[in-house]
Amino acid sequence: MTHRIGVIGGDGIGPEVLAEALKVLDATGVAYDRTDYDLGAHRYLADGTVLPDEVLEEWRGLDALLLGAVGDPAPGVAAPAGLVERGILLRMRFDLDQYINLRPFRLPPKADFEVIRENTEGTYAGEGGFLRKGTPNEIATQGSVNTRLGVERCVRFAFERAAATDRRHLTLVHKKNVLTFAGDLWQRTFDEVAEQYPQVSTGYDHIDAACIHFVERPERYDVIVTDNLFGDILTDLGGAVAGGVGYAASANLNPARTGPSMFEPVHGTAPDIAGQNKANPIAAIISLQLMLDFLGEADAAAAVAAACDNPERYTGSTTDIGDAVAAAVRSA
Ligand code: IPM
Ligand code: MN
Repeated sequence: MTHRIGVIGGDGIGPEVLAEALKVLDATGVAYDRTDYDLGAHRYLADGTVLPDEVLEEWRGLDALLLGAVGDPAPGVAAPAGLVERGILLRMRFDLDQYINLRPFRLPPKADFEVIRENTEGTYAGEGGFLRKGTPNEIATQGSVNTRLGVERCVRFAFERAAATDRRHLTLVHKKNVLTFAGDLWQRTFDEVAEQYPQVSTGYDHIDAACIHFVERPERYDVIVTDNLFGDILTDLGGAVAGGVGYAASANLNPARTGPSMFEPVHGTAPDIAGQNKANPIAAIISLQLMLDFLGEADAAAAVAAACDNPERYTGSTTDIGDAVAAAVRSA
């Protein structure tokens, strides 16, 4: 089966790291058709394009999307703050219903856990607004949207993941001592779904405590489920404790498969090192591995995973590392 893959290199180091991921994809021998999309801050600055509706419609017919990074393309070159991040990344996640953001952190013995981040709701939903803007009595509100459906499908996905690990342990991370409405919905839903997974042991940590545990005793965790904003912050910390953000990969999944899922490294465009063949492509390559896994290419995914296990062994330039991983995959 030939997979139809959309490729968005984006800005800064995005295209460089994605080129190495595609090199590794070629090494697996998996058949695919590739369509490139020239999007990102550089495109916006050139002609005002963010994400045309017809492109989004075209994506619905694809099997997966691979994305490098979008945002500032070069030192000192800035698009309006957050415009392309919201207009491309968040629009993709929301409109293609990629409701799971799966971020694994595997660098034993430093880390061996994964975070399941809800990807379409919470404070990211854009609820809120200004009153009396620009006056001394100005008010800004920013709500957190938590639907039973959205929380339940995320929690259920997390239980399925935890049921498939060796340790079979799932931790809910929230701030239910203060966020009493959202926290209550999350914990009640978690407890109800837990009844259907008696083989999975469960726990709960407040987000602030989880930050300490990430640094001091990450072995406490196996699978973690959390809301959109907590997950955003916690996964940057996860990258930092698991060898650096250069190894942090992510899968934006539509598990119902009503649209393509999107795979991207957690890191940004790093404009300070763009174009210098310096960026570590491992995060993009592990994102490719997550894509292969989701597309049912288990053998190819296993070969990439084996080549990226112990990634600290790879040194050198972006292209050196891509070549070495591709060679390891070819000889697998
Ligand atoms: C991430 C990023 C995005 C997010 C930004 C770029 C909108 O930080 O994927 O973690 O906040 O989700
Ligand atoms: Mn983030």
